This record gives sequence, structure tokens and C-alpha cells, in this order.
Amino acid sequence: MTQMLLSTAVACATVAAVAAAVMVWQKFHKHSHCDQALVLLYEFRHACATPLYVLRHISEHVALEMQAGLNQPGGSQLMMLPTFIEKLPNGCEKGLFYALDLSGTNFRVLRCLLGGPNARVIKQEYEVVAIPRALLLGTSEELFDFIAQRLISFIKLEGPEFQRGHNWNGHQIRELGLTISFPICQTSHNTGILIKWTEGFKIADGVGKDVVAMLQSAMDRQKGFQIRVAVLINDTVGTMAGGHYWNDDVMVGVILGTNTNACYVECNLPEDIQTKSGKMVNIPFYTLPVIYMEWGRFWSSHLPRTYIDEQLDNESVNPGDRGFEKMTGAMYLGEIVRRVLARMAQEANLFGDSVPTKLKQPFILLTLEMSKMHADESPDLRIVDKVLKDVFDIKRTELSERRIVHSVCDTVTMRAARLAAAFIVGILKKIGRDGWDATGVSSRLMALPRDSEHRARLELKRTVVAMDGILYEHYHRFRIYMQAAVYELLSEAAARKLVIELSKDGSGTGASILAACHSEFAPSYS
Ligand code: BGC
Repeated sequence: MTQMLLSTAVACATVAAVAAAVMVWQKFHKHSHCDQALVLLYEFRHACATPLYVLRHISEHVALEMQAGLNQPGGSQLMMLPTFIEKLPNGCEKGLFYALDLSGTNFRVLRCLLGGPNARVIKQEYEVVAIPRALLLGTSEELFDFIAQRLISFIKLEGPEFQRGHNWNGHQIRELGLTISFPICQTSHNTGILIKWTEGFKIADGVGKDVVAMLQSAMDRQKGFQIRVAVLINDTVGTMAGGHYWNDDVMVGVILGTNTNACYVECNLPEDIQTKSGKMVNIPFYTLPVIYMEWGRFWSSHLPRTYIDEQLDNESVNPGDRGFEKMTGAMYLGEIVRRVLARMAQEANLFGDSVPTKLKQPFILLTLEMSKMHADESPDLRIVDKVLKDVFDIKRTELSERRIVHSVCDTVTMRAARLAAAFIVGILKKIGRDGWDATGVSSRLMALPRDSEHRARLELKRTVVAMDGILYEHYHRFRIYMQAAVYELLSEAAARKLVIELSKDGSGTGASILAACHSEFAPSYS
């Protein structure tokens, strides 16, 4: 009996000792794997750092590349493409205008009734149409026939309030602003040659042809309605126009969304650039010097690039291209986070002894889900836990692991936001609105007589950046980091005059307003 009790006690003690050892081992093991993951985190954070001096170098490099691209087509990694638009809206536009936004495997048609300075945008309606897969691989004629057919169906639904509000002015032609986010070499405000199909299209023909002519022929084939493409634009130009419609101090349009790009009004354009063709960018004298940059292509050794960015780039469909966009676009931020976490799981056993299968799947973590984790302020990071479960099927995580995930999201977003800020300040530097440059507005102001009216007007002038895109609009921390870095980079005087405004839907509303500015039929406005 005593022996039995003894052996039971020994057995119990052994079990307890083993359990305690397991707990200690687990505790040690947990700490040690979190410690290893923390080392990787610190390494990553260090590699992503964007101190002020780095941002300053980047802004300067952007401004220099802008000038190089203006001096000579192809002279810079920034494309610096003239837009050929002749007017920017001022709020007086009137009439019914359409927009067609072809930016991906969906397109959007929109109608907008403009009522002039008092009524502004009276009413608008839109429809999103998915392009059938077969058409992404077919011919340009089939694609444009489909687009024209859906556009006509949409026009047929035009209600009496749109027709009543429109001053037909003796004609029945509807005018349209066309936004295309494929690379286009624009030849006038409503013509442009397709350079390349991107965004999932694998169409055999169409490259080298005028996109407006292809759409126009398809619309003519449909019969029944007469439609004229009044303007062909990039989405950044629509964003700037949409902002300018409300505020004529808007000088810059920026998209910080799935992808990224910017356009601006070039105020320091030397006269010969405006009048001569050949070496310089050929901007006809009757157009506005609005340039869109294709800044997503920018690359500089000053950009804080990590092994993760290199890996992502090497495995992408366009290695070596769009370096800045791959660090800043919402298309990539979630994927960068996933790659960092996958490496931590692989090398530091974050999330357990084996790498969760779904964590290995490229692009499974959307930036939207990442932003939810980043916004999590609960003490136990409950939302991080939920997203890890929902997206990667990781059933259980420790708080220390969730803190690491949160910190990775913060690092990736802070870098993207601060780089975007440096690029915006690069534009301000180029146009002399950053307050540091000797050619800046303030020094030009100083040169004017103190009591001159011109000086008084300029002193009041603000620089407004019209901004669109999901990162700016919906990713709160991104927006805060970006704004803070812009103000860090600017002089106090320039910062006081800078306004960053949300200008929603440049590719839709902005395009229809620009169609009004370039209308052949709308009543003239001043
Ligand atoms: C396109 C640009 C566009 C930007 C924002 C980029 O991928 O090349 O033309 O402005 O996306 O949508």
C-alpha cells in the first residue's frame, strides 16, 4: 500500500515536473522565438527608416528628375507627359456630360449634370461594368464594341431630370470625358496612342492606335446616339480638375491608391519649352502646362529598399519597373507585410513550428485588412487576432506575436506615407512652392515692391494639392504620417500656405467636368 502510494506520488511528481518543464520550455521557447522575430523586426525597421535628411535627398532627386524629363523626352525615369488640356474648370460649367473610366478589368460609365456657379453638380449617376474574361484576351474591336454597347445602354436610361437640365443648344450630341489608366502617348487633348495593354489585358492588337478613334468607331457602329469624346485624360488630371472646380489654387493632383501618380501645373516652364518641338517637351502654346509624371516608375538609391522589396520586385510581372509604386501603392503594402511575416515565421517560428500554409500565398493579405490591423487600439489587439485568423487561418496567437504583426504594419505604412510626402514636396520644390528654394515664391515675392497689388495677391495665394485614392481617403494612419512628413519637410511659411484637400472621383466626376471645359457644344462660360 505504502509502495503504491509512493509510486503514485512519484508518478504525480514526475507528471508535475514534466508539465513544469514543458511550461518553462514553452515559456522559454516562446520568448526565444519572439526575441528572434523582434531581431528581424528591428532589422526591417532599420532598413525602412526615413529620417528627415533621407526625405530631403529624395525630394531634391524628384525635383531634378522632373526637370530632366522636361528638358528631354525620355531624359528621366519620370515620363513628364504633357496633357494638352486647354482649360481647368472654374465652377461655371453647365450641361450634361458623360465620363468613361477604363482603368482595369472593370470600367465605369457616369453622367453628371452641371448647373454653373450656384447649382454646381446637380445630379450624377454611374454604373460599374465587369469586362468578361474572354474580352480581356480578344481583339480591341470586340472590347470597344462591348464598352460602346454598355455605354449606349446606360445613356438609354438617362432620366428626364438630366435631359431637362441640359441645354441642348440645338444639337443632340452627348460629350464624354475618357479616363484611361494604360500608358498612352497623348497627341492632343482628345487623341492618344496606346503604348501598352496592362492591368490584366492580353489583347493582340490596338497598340500603336488612337484609343479615342477605336472607341469612337465602336460608338458609331452602335448607332442611335451621337457621342463625342471631348477629352482624354489620366486619372490624376481628373483629380486635379475636380479640385480646381472648387478651388482655383489647386496646382497639383495626386493619386495615392491601388497605384500612384501625380500631375501638376508647371509654372517655371521656360518659354522655349512652350513653343519649340524637338529636344524639349512640346507643349503647344494654347494648352496649359499641366504635366503628369508617372511617378510610380521612379527609382533612386535614396529610397530605403529592403530585401523584401527586392524579392517582391524580382517575382513581379515587371521586375525592375515601378520601384516607388511597389513601396507605396495599396496594391503592394499588404503583400510587403505578408512577406515580412512569412520570413519571421520561417526563420523565427513566429506563429508556431511550421509556417502557416496561407501565409505562403502571395497577395492574400489585402491592404484593407492590413489597415484594420494597424488601426487596432484594443489592449489585447483583438482585431489583429481576427484578421490573422480570417486571412491566414492562424488559430491562436500570443499577444507578443500580435504586437510584432502590428509593428510590421506600422513600419510598412510609415515608410510609404513618408516617401509619398517627399515626392509631393519634390513637386513643390520644382514649382518653387516649398519655401527653401531660391527661385521660390517667397524670394520672388521679396523682389516685388511692398505695396504692389500683385505682391498682395501672391501673398494670399495658397498651394492646394488635390488628393484622391484609398490610401489617402481611408487609411487614417497613412494620411496622418504623410501630412506630418510634408510639414516636417517644408519651411514654416510654405507649410502655412499648403493645403491638402480630398478631391474624390477624378476619373469620373473630374473627367465629366473636364469634358465640359472642352465641349464644342456647351454654352460658353467665363
Ligand atoms: C498608372 C497611372 C495612373 C496611376 C494611378 C498607374 O499604374 O500608370 O497612369 O495615374 O496608376 O491610378
